[in-house]
Amino acid sequence: MEEYDPAMSIPAAMGVPAYEGLAEALREPVFRRWLEKLPSQLEAAFRADRHGDWPRWREVLRRLPAITPTRVDLNADAPRVEGGELERATIETLLRELHPWRKGPYALHGVHIETEWRSDLKWRRLESHIRPLAGRTVLDVGCGNGYHAWRMIGAGASRVIGIDPTLLSVAQFLAVKHFAGDFPVYVLPVGIDEVPPNLRAFDTVFSMGVLYHRRSPLDHLLELKGCLCSGGELVLETLIIAGGEGRVLVPEDRYAQMRNVWFIPSCPTLAAWLKRCGYRNIRLIDVAKTTPEEQRSTDWMRFQSLPDFLAPDNPELTVEGWPAPRRAVFLAESP
Ligand SMILES: C[S@@+](CC[C@H](N)C(=O)[O-])C[C@H]1O[C@@H](n2cnc3c(N)ncnc32)[C@H](O)[C@@H]1O
Repeated sequence: MEEYDPAMSIPAAMGVPAYEGLAEALREPVFRRWLEKLPSQLEAAFRADRHGDWPRWREVLRRLPAITPTRVDLNADAPRVEGGELERATIETLLRELHPWRKGPYALHGVHIETEWRSDLKWRRLESHIRPLAGRTVLDVGCGNGYHAWRMIGAGASRVIGIDPTLLSVAQFLAVKHFAGDFPVYVLPVGIDEVPPNLRAFDTVFSMGVLYHRRSPLDHLLELKGCLCSGGELVLETLIIAGGEGRVLVPEDRYAQMRNVWFIPSCPTLAAWLKRCGYRNIRLIDVAKTTPEEQRSTDWMRFQSLPDFLAPDNPELTVEGWPAPRRAVFLAESP
């Protein structure tokens, strides 16, 4: 029987060259169960009929000029690629076709992408608390367009796999990767449910801004634990409310205009959930109110944003009357 060769199985046919190297990056046996499924998962995600705009975004990616960067800085608040400033206007026109840009900022060949979120502020709140990423294999669940994944590579991670089912975010990642070049970072258009259970493969798993979107938050914590190797670190960032153990908000309908918010626990409740799911060494490292400095409309995200989602007469409440967004970061260890 022919030997299974993962390098042959990630289809370049989808016209997404950024996945070259992915099979090599996931070469160890521990990833095999996933690698076997990935070709069909990627193929299904990139099928033109799954998202009507994908052919248009793919065409934008195809038209991005090929430029060898003179400098790449992934440790800047706005990850920076330099060298193609003469083509700035063309690049800007093309990147604007990928509106709305939610996570960033980025500085690509003189184009400053001022995104809805200052994702650098979230990174600053946690970077000095987490285990140093140098040499680690990282999974970023719900990574958006991969902003934090680039920062993780900048912090020395040996490889970062981001997953996010939103195809526009993946297209934005592919645009950034096109300019930044050949780093061991991949954003795959898949959801956490498509990662085979109990892979136990990653040294650090991030889940930021995802838990409240899950209808079954304890299952999410268990799924994340299954992705971690023994002794690996979970970095969990999510919306929280004030109060003691047992308190949890389940918004009747929308929360800050979002339809898909299910559970917003208090910090003691979330710590108890983590404990119940078998995590050890659970630590709360940060609580921060989301401010209009961190989340607002910009020229690159022209829809409504946080200031429109807060009650006009009381910024402590959302327009629906719920407590305004506060977010916590927990660290925990997989047994
Ligand atoms: C609020 S954003 C957070 C982005 C980024 N992690 C951050 O903290 O800035 C939540 C992301 O989770 C993604 N998401 C939703 N359901 C998901 C799932 N089942 N698996 C993985 N990601 C998911 C969304 O597409 C979205 O990009």
